[in-house]
Amino acid sequence: MSVYILGIESSCDDTSAAVVEGTTILSNVIASQRVHAEYGGVVPELASRAHQQNIIPVIDTALKRAKIHKNQLSAIAFTNGPGLLGSLLVGSSFAKAMSYSLDVPLVEVDHLQAHVLANFLDKPGEERAHPSFPFLCLTVSGGHTLLLQVNDYFDMQRLGCTIDDAAGEAFDKAAKILGLPYPGGPVIDKYAQDGDPKRFQFAIAHVPGLDYSFSGLKTSFLYFVRDQLKENPNFIEENIHDLAASIQYAIVKSLMDKVVKAMKVTPCKDFVLAGGVSANSGLRNAAADVARRYRKNLFLPTLDLTTDNAAMIAVCGYFKYLKGEFVNIDAVPYSSRVL
Ligand code: KG4
Ligand code: ZN
Repeated sequence: MSVYILGIESSCDDTSAAVVEGTTILSNVIASQRVHAEYGGVVPELASRAHQQNIIPVIDTALKRAKIHKNQLSAIAFTNGPGLLGSLLVGSSFAKAMSYSLDVPLVEVDHLQAHVLANFLDKPGEERAHPSFPFLCLTVSGGHTLLLQVNDYFDMQRLGCTIDDAAGEAFDKAAKILGLPYPGGPVIDKYAQDGDPKRFQFAIAHVPGLDYSFSGLKTSFLYFVRDQLKENPNFIEENIHDLAASIQYAIVKSLMDKVVKAMKVTPCKDFVLAGGVSANSGLRNAAADVARRYRKNLFLPTLDLTTDNAAMIAVCGYFKYLKGEFVNIDAVPYSSRVL
């Protein structure tokens, strides 16, 4: 019998609902909140309010697009953390009410595990190969930078993480310094396509082991741009492509240097990217290059599944459903937890 899972994601500034049948996406609806752009970052209070406005139409659309009646659902999966508490409360409360009224199990999902498991999603009619355990996974988002050895769906061993800013934060802060809109990662990526990545050099932090640091890079970028602007007020406009390409090169190199180090000490044959920053074309190219050199099989989520979406919550919920891992309506959302 088919298993249909409704996934609900509301951890940050995207309200999303999706229906999967097993690992196959039947619908994946995302309402991205534009209200934050003028503030240069996510405003938590505005995010919670926007989730309240979006959640019913988004879930309704997800069910309609999937051509599934709510009574056919096998379970409701929701993001319980990490994220903004006010935002999480909207999705989690709705999921609890829905599971209670439909009398179907409730499954709590960790947002970071879901980013990793997005690599197991299929689209109708195009089944993809999935990574094999154990695999090495670089999980890079706006809030986290994690290097993981994934031994099983829910056995994710942390090899390294950032000691300060996340990789996505580094992209967003660099964009802000250049006067570009939030979120800055995709904009930097776009400008970088026509830029020279070696034109400006920015120091890469030397952190022991497999951990990362991006705060020094951000500061050196800030000081460099500030000093150049004193000499030439048009410095940013005249060099925007090379600036974007150079900072992207530094962030990607920093990420991939540790991946190479990890490849040498783990038994993994497969290498996987996950999270919003895995949409970055420079990172995807560098990952392909490293995978070729070290003879690893590379798995990348399709671009629409890199950033926040509820299909990844639903598929994570599906794997927990198979294990019978359910929660009650007293499950409490959490703002931070590192795998
Ligand atoms: O996973 P995600 O959607 O949300 C979090 O869980 O944080 O990741 C959002 C992050 C933002 O920092 C955004 O700038 C970054 O992913 N991002 C990118 C690209 N697309 C999104 N960074 C670099 N290049 C991109 N193409
Ligand atoms: Zn995310």
